[in-house]
Amino acid sequence: MELQEAIVKRRTIRDFSEQKINPDIINKALLAGLKAPSYNHLKQWYFILVSDREKRIALIHTEKMIESVTEELEESLKDFDNLSKQMYLDAIPKQKRMMLSAPELLVVVYKPKTQIADSTRIYDLNCLASVWCCIENILLSLAEDSVFGVTFIPQNTKAVKEVLNIPPELEVAAIIPFGYKANNATLIPQKEVRLEDRLFMNRWTKENPI
Ligand SMILES: Cc1cc2nc3c(=O)[nH]c(=O)nc-3n(C[C@H](O)[C@H](O)[C@H](O)COP(=O)(O)O)c2cc1C
Repeated sequence: MELQEAIVKRRTIRDFSEQKINPDIINKALLAGLKAPSYNHLKQWYFILVSDREKRIALIHTEKMIESVTEELEESLKDFDNLSKQMYLDAIPKQKRMMLSAPELLVVVYKPKTQIADSTRIYDLNCLASVWCCIENILLSLAEDSVFGVTFIPQNTKAVKEVLNIPPELEVAAIIPFGYKANNATLIPQKEVRLEDRLFMNRWTKENPI
């Protein structure tokens, strides 16, 4: 498959079939991750595949997760545009289920140079930026093999680190449930962005950024 095809094919999926994934597909994706550009040429990225159900249950208990649309959720989304609202109304009640039921659950860990709480400049976040280059390579490689994931960003990374025995000097970038699409998987339309609205030549020329 051409790279452009994988880029277009990659989508966030939160409803998975039970079909197992060949370990070669997973290893290929993680190796693709390790090919990403990296701050300091260091690639201080680590992967934990969590298959143990008890550990997955402990992970979902690190934060509050709702399983149906509540009035409070609807109220919190009232000023969102329709597409974002549609996405959150679908996604938020699925967070717990996707973590428990995805055939694979990947935790991506990295070594920050500056702890997030101490970061004051974009430069301090270079390690976070490069681990996300790694994550995108993984997602594109999986998409090439018709495997899809969802990047869940835990709110309580300290608790996640405790559950998984991750050393204090490392940080969690994302938890990624992934697998083949369920037959009835929801696909929220992607936001259409026109390049001509976002591209400038030589200097910024728009009055009101969208
Ligand atoms: C940094 C980042 C954080 C995200 N966090 C979550 C999350 O916590 N839970 C979730 O279900 N999806 C999460 N997503 C997925 C987005 O909702 C999704 O990428 C977006 O709706 C666009 O859909 P697409 O990936 O199919 O293009 C996250 C994506 C990114 C890039």
